Amino acid sequence: MPATVVLGTQWGDEGKGKAVDYLADRMDVVVRYQGGNNAGHTIIAEGRLLKLHLVPSGILYPHITSVIADGVVVNPEVLLAEMDDLAGAGVDVSGLRLSFNAHLIMPYHLEMEKVTERFLGKNALGTTKRGIGPAYADRASRVGIRVQDLYDEKIFREKLEIVLKEKNQILTKVYGRLAIPIEGIVQDYLDYAERLRPHVADTTKLLYEALTARRQVLLEGAQGAMLDLDHGTYPFVTSSTPTAGYAAAAGGFGPQHIDRVVGITKAYVTRVGAGPFPTEALDHDGDRMGERGHEFGTTTGRKRRCGWFDGPVLRSAARLNGLTELVLTKLDVLSGFETVKVCVGYRTQGELFDDVPPTQTQFHHAEPVWEELPGWDEDLGDARELDDLPKEAQQYVRFLEELGGVPVSVVGVGPAREQSIPVRA
Ligand code: GDP
Ligand code: IMO
Ligand code: MG
Repeated sequence: MPATVVLGTQWGDEGKGKAVDYLADRMDVVVRYQGGNNAGHTIIAEGRLLKLHLVPSGILYPHITSVIADGVVVNPEVLLAEMDDLAGAGVDVSGLRLSFNAHLIMPYHLEMEKVTERFLGKNALGTTKRGIGPAYADRASRVGIRVQDLYDEKIFREKLEIVLKEKNQILTKVYGRLAIPIEGIVQDYLDYAERLRPHVADTTKLLYEALTARRQVLLEGAQGAMLDLDHGTYPFVTSSTPTAGYAAAAGGFGPQHIDRVVGITKAYVTRVGAGPFPTEALDHDGDRMGERGHEFGTTTGRKRRCGWFDGPVLRSAARLNGLTELVLTKLDVLSGFETVKVCVGYRTQGELFDDVPPTQTQFHHAEPVWEELPGWDEDLGDARELDDLPKEAQQYVRFLEELGGVPVSVVGVGPAREQSIPVRA
């Protein structure tokens, strides 16, 4: 059963790109299964720095087939620009495969998101403004346009005319904006389609054949468990399903193929955009994490909110995803704190929780229950084995492992591929 899911356990930006690149060495196929170019996955390897938004993070390995699966919403202009950038950096993208069924982000999705976020005012979600929510909404409303539609011009025009008519009514009558003309869109998207033609494929069949031939398939999640549309901190979530169960649904194969679920967990927590964040450090500690961890969004450049490690979030992520192991990232960023704080539970409205409470009201009122562990001063960037780490850092790793009830298999001590410590069970 050779499928591995790799996903974020917090609110995104845990270091999934680096982890996937590290794990991909032993894989045959790497698949992006949800989200769109709201994601920004950073890889530093082979003398290159890559910021990937849609292309799966196994792209640096020539032996890997990279797949964008059905559950992803694709802005074709962004995908083509990313492919051009990669090709310019000497990366071979000819093997990239894009599902016929993936939904497309259209110009009106970007426009709709701009006006609806503005309309929400102080209640805005702080989205990445990449049209993700509107594209997924159209998919659920069955008025979305898919990659395959671009290869039948008559159908494409017909679908576009219907949906654009409605969007233009909303844009002009509700939001007082200008209508978006159809012609530019048709020509642009037909041009994108021509360029993407060699990459478009029946990816569900491709994955099924790979799995039944016992080739190793890695499914790469974007965002994180707490941004999951169902299980995250709704409404401050994304519009897709990052949790592991969806990887099989998006890939189009049965869940029994998945036998390994790797949760990427940052040694502290960050969040971009609005929404509750119980362990947020709105003081010098948070600033220090942000500076040492270079916590600025890969996609939007926004400053990420920073806070101490959140045990209840990890426990919930372990339960929601069936995590079999953890990759603990950015441990190096915590060097230099006299003590490191860990939230081991929440106190909310007179109740104690060791995982995320079920209601939004309870979560909004959650006060962390802290434990404080001794810190360390040493720089960790050159450590290559667990024993190279100061004993306080090792103790921190073991503490988090126990807190989540999931073994740590890799510890990250810097952004580069080789700054990864494999941990024996
Ligand atoms: P993703 O969205 O989960 O792939 O994460 P991002 O790439 O958006 O953000 C993670 C950032 O941390 C990137 O700049 C990575 O290069 C960097 N990074 C990943 N792992 C480590 C690590 O172990 N230590 C340090 N210092 N940086 C890391
Ligand atoms: P990666 O894959 C961090 C956040 C946005 C916002 C909310 C909804 O790099 O970890 P959306 O544009 O998806 O409708 O925004 O989700 N968000 C992310 N935060 N990392 C991401 O991706 C994110 N993708 C979306 O900031 O709060
Ligand atoms: Mg990111």
